[in-house]
Amino acid sequence: MTDLALTTSRILAAARRQGSDRPPVWIMRQAGRYLPEYRAVRERYDFMQLCKVPELAVEVSLQPVERLKVDAAILFSDILIPLEAMGLEVVFTEHGPQLPGPVRTLADIQRLGIPDPLADFPFQAETVRLLARALADKVPVIGFAGAPFTLAAYAVEGGGSKNFHRTKRLMHCEPAAFASLLDKLAQTVAATLSAQVAAGAKLVQIFDSWGGELNKADYRAFSLPATRQIVRTLRAAGVPVILYLGGGPHLVDLLVETEADVLSLDWRSDLGEVLDRWGDRIAVQGNLDPALLFASPERIRREVMRIRAQVGGRAGHIWNLGHGILPDTPVEHAQAFVEAAQGNGQ
Ligand code: CP3
Repeated sequence: MTDLALTTSRILAAARRQGSDRPPVWIMRQAGRYLPEYRAVRERYDFMQLCKVPELAVEVSLQPVERLKVDAAILFSDILIPLEAMGLEVVFTEHGPQLPGPVRTLADIQRLGIPDPLADFPFQAETVRLLARALADKVPVIGFAGAPFTLAAYAVEGGGSKNFHRTKRLMHCEPAAFASLLDKLAQTVAATLSAQVAAGAKLVQIFDSWGGELNKADYRAFSLPATRQIVRTLRAAGVPVILYLGGGPHLVDLLVETEADVLSLDWRSDLGEVLDRWGDRIAVQGNLDPALLFASPERIRREVMRIRAQVGGRAGHIWNLGHGILPDTPVEHAQAFVEAAQGNGQ
């Protein structure tokens, strides 16, 4: 096997719980403001331009691969792009994304369309195609989309939220309407990820950043069927699926039922315990606390050793943080994490 093929296969091998020379590593939100070269591009273009002009999206997707030598590239885009194509206005402000016309009623939900990714946001698949070509199999491209619950939360709240009261109110007061919203989102996400795979993504990640807000009964009733529908579509296409869920140690047993290949968990979970219980069915990804990257490289290396001891050399592990890297993280500390995870710098 050539070195290039080895790199491409590391993350696919880990996702399938097969061994390789070492566990792979990448970082959620690895293309972003902690990188000076990203900030330099952002001075010239706004965020939506970066998402919508494939050459720019490719340029920033490649930055962390070149600087950090991570084992995968992730498409540069945003989970809210498909919402825009469903008919919702999305504006990125300094204070995060805002949706000025949120979804609050059954009529609002019925108005949402199910987009055709290649016709309605062709730039996303085109970015994957150009990125895969630029990388020439050196490292694989990860495609991504939001999970139905997390997308519903942005659509209903009209932006970020601390407590998701409006989303939960709709879920509890109009469960059939809420289920139909999740179903529309699941169809949209399945089509989005399928288009990315057809364009060359070798694995995909579903981001359920706020999924841990639900208790077990509500996760089972609402999120599980919608998420499983997406996972089945992608697995039928032969592509491993990573499911990230924030704040969800109480939901791990249900996440296994989504049939995802890899569970990406945050710092609240003990990866060793999850593997002890489910290691014959799933691989794990994670889970260093992104805030720990503000500590010294020495402290970061110790944390990597602690997680490595939990995993105990089992094959199904992809190194990552427990959530996206924070915008003011020192880039040398991100580098120390990657090197330690790759088994260097110790
Ligand atoms: O991982 C990568 O490098 C690929 C790019 C990527 C972005 N967003 C680019 C981005 C990915 C995978 C996402 C996913 C995403 N987007 C999620 C799920 C992951 C998570 O962190 O929970 C969510 C919830 C969003 C929605 C979103 N987009 C928020 C809340 C924000 C504002 C927060 C912030 O970091 O500014 C965005 C904007 C955004 N998406 C930026 C980037 C690089 C910052 C835009 C800028 O340059 O100013």
